[in-house]
Amino acid sequence: MKTIDDLQVAGRRVFVRADLNVPLEGGKITDDGRIRAAVPTIRKLAAAGARVVVASHLGRPKGAPDPAYSLAPVAARLGELLGAPVAFASDTVGDSARATVADLADGQVALLENLRFNPGETSKDDTERGAFADDLASLADAYVGDGFGAVHRKHASVYDLPARLPHAAGGLIATEVGVLKQLTEDVRRPYAVVLGGAKVSDKLGVIDHLLERADRILIGGGMAYTFLKAQGHEVGDSLLQEDQVPVVREYLRRAAERGVEFVLPVDVVAAKAFPDLATKAPAHPVVVPADAIPEGVMGLDIGPRTAELYAAKLADAATVFWNGPMGVFEHPEFAAGTRGVTQALLDSPAFTVVGGGDSAAAVRILGFDETAFGHISTGGGASLEYLEGKTLPGLAALED
Ligand code: 3PG
Repeated sequence: MKTIDDLQVAGRRVFVRADLNVPLEGGKITDDGRIRAAVPTIRKLAAAGARVVVASHLGRPKGAPDPAYSLAPVAARLGELLGAPVAFASDTVGDSARATVADLADGQVALLENLRFNPGETSKDDTERGAFADDLASLADAYVGDGFGAVHRKHASVYDLPARLPHAAGGLIATEVGVLKQLTEDVRRPYAVVLGGAKVSDKLGVIDHLLERADRILIGGGMAYTFLKAQGHEVGDSLLQEDQVPVVREYLRRAAERGVEFVLPVDVVAAKAFPDLATKAPAHPVVVPADAIPEGVMGLDIGPRTAELYAAKLADAATVFWNGPMGVFEHPEFAAGTRGVTQALLDSPAFTVVGGGDSAAAVRILGFDETAFGHISTGGGASLEYLEGKTLPGLAALED
């Protein structure tokens, strides 16, 4: 994979595919981690005299402009972080984009509007995607792939565009891949994996893969209830993927056969209804045993005994990968589990990788010092698919 140092950039238009897909609430950025992670590559290119054309997706608009997903607030924040103005194009390949790029002087930076406002970006049709990639290619002389969070997507700006321009990997992608390699080659043991988040169906591939590699798998978040059900316990009104119960039962069987320790919650924090995240109104939680969640309540976080158990299971690990919060951490009454696991990771001497937008945001939103972790990945789905051993289109496109 070539790096930026292999590209001629001075005086040239360099397209940087970043992942600036940050959480927004009422038009305000609630976690700017991904923007900050994109800054070093942009700054390096600008300092080398490139005319930097940054592009990204934000959310999942339906292939047409939608003000709720505009990158305008991101352009403002990027400018603050760079300490230099960022010109914002109000379209992706239209008049505004062409004029904005044409106006760039050496060392200046522009951001295009959300790539997913154009249906060609995510199209499954090669010709439609290719046509959009052609239009994007006409805006630049070189391509830098640095949006690690999107490399698992076969999208025009990620996969088709690099084939049309001299290309290289940016520093963020190089760092992310370097770290994830440490989890797939010669991993230091014991290797513990903490998986949370809402749906077990999102994690099937990675669990399947980790059953052959990890020594210990700790389960939390909404997906834990499907595991508890597979063990024969009632889960009340908790999130349950009934169709995944047989799959999960098979995982538990394989784990036992291979000597992989599968650790499930022993208690949970439950409430009668999903909490209101906007008002954060009290939800009157109760702590109940995980093997006897009563009818009429739903589990919304791991309980205090589970948090202690998980901390003990992480204390002697040499390597830890964590993806997915342990509960509804956005509400203070259901944040203790995620907070407890985060603290346990900080206390452990293990090499720790936090993978995923949600878990990374949780670490920052709960007020932890992110620099204390071995690595916080900017990619959720991307880091999981990397660990599954899949070929990631955006990395493959940068290979030659
Ligand atoms: C992410 O948030 O994981 C990346 O930005 C990719 O977004 P996507 O899942 O909408 O493709």
